[in-house]
Amino acid sequence: MGEDPARKPDYDAEVGAFCWFIWREVLTTGAMSEGPLLAVEDLRVCFRSGSEETEVVRGVSWSLDAGEILAVVGESGSGKSVTALALTRLLPPAPACVLAGKIFYRGEEVLGLPEKALRRLRGKEIAYVFQEPGTSLNPVYTVGFQLAEAIRRHCRAVRDVKNRMVELLEEVGIHEAASRLESYPHELSGGMQQRVMIAMALACEPRVLVADEPTTALDVTVQKQIMDLLARLRREHGMGIVLITHNFGVVANFADKVAVMFRGEIVERGPTAKILAAPQHPYTRALIGCIPRLGQRRERLVSIDRAEVGR
Ligand SMILES: Nc1ncnc2c1ncn2[C@@H]1O[C@H](COP(=O)(O)OP(=O)(O)OP(=O)(O)O)[C@@H](O)[C@H]1O
Ligand SMILES: [Mg+2]
Repeated sequence: MGEDPARKPDYDAEVGAFCWFIWREVLTTGAMSEGPLLAVEDLRVCFRSGSEETEVVRGVSWSLDAGEILAVVGESGSGKSVTALALTRLLPPAPACVLAGKIFYRGEEVLGLPEKALRRLRGKEIAYVFQEPGTSLNPVYTVGFQLAEAIRRHCRAVRDVKNRMVELLEEVGIHEAASRLESYPHELSGGMQQRVMIAMALACEPRVLVADEPTTALDVTVQKQIMDLLARLRREHGMGIVLITHNFGVVANFADKVAVMFRGEIVERGPTAKILAAPQHPYTRALIGCIPRLGQRRERLVSIDRAEVGR
């Protein structure tokens, strides 16, 4: 069958429009990505001291989609923070060494990126909130000074910095935002300090927020407010959140899926409801056993049987 010459111009126009669409996506997103927003594949990290090498993250893999909250739980020293810092190569280069593994952000491998490209990623695309807002904020500078610095460093496109600062503080629920810019960190409560840290992390509307025990230093009512804030931000901005915590109560209320770390490895993973209903690993069972319940009789805290976990 011969080609209908009358159709050709339309066909060319369609192909042209399609190519333009793809090209525009590549230009505006920097990469064509399918699959997860962020993925860690078989990551191995060690620390060196003299001739000794200790592997503290031993083949960790997980993935995060846009708008999803992944909780990473695990005992102290199990490698949660080291994994989080490795995501944008923030580990101290001298003692730390990435032995193997890959990290993909929107389909692009991160660990092999040059430093300049990584700087664009940090803060702008993948932002962090840490445990102790009191120590993360510099006590000798006002909130406004530190927020302005975060905006100027990571989001050069913002023209009206003052206006953006007020907008960010309002976004995280700080009232009388304009006057709060003049405050020093010690003039704010722990919960307000953490809100300021979250505002700084949100400065460039990152797609991924890594929250490393963001509520551990706060009392329970403020914990709840901060977690509600993070949940709202992921809902409204479609952010993916990696939430590092020891608290299975927080996991149960906020996370879509869980990865349980133990001695540098992921020993259990899955949707939150499934893990809560049928935890397989003794450490997961012990953590779930620690969730306080109203009306529950006081019992001894569960300890992990080392023989059962094989070490
Ligand atoms: N800069 C460092 N130098 C040497 N060892 C380190 C360093 N940072 C972390 N480690 C070691 O790496 C291991 C994992 O530490 P990591 O901070 O990831 O634990 P974590 O799971 O975040 O614990 P926590 O719940 O207490 O914060 C620990 O044994 C820790 O001592
Ligand atoms: Mg930690």
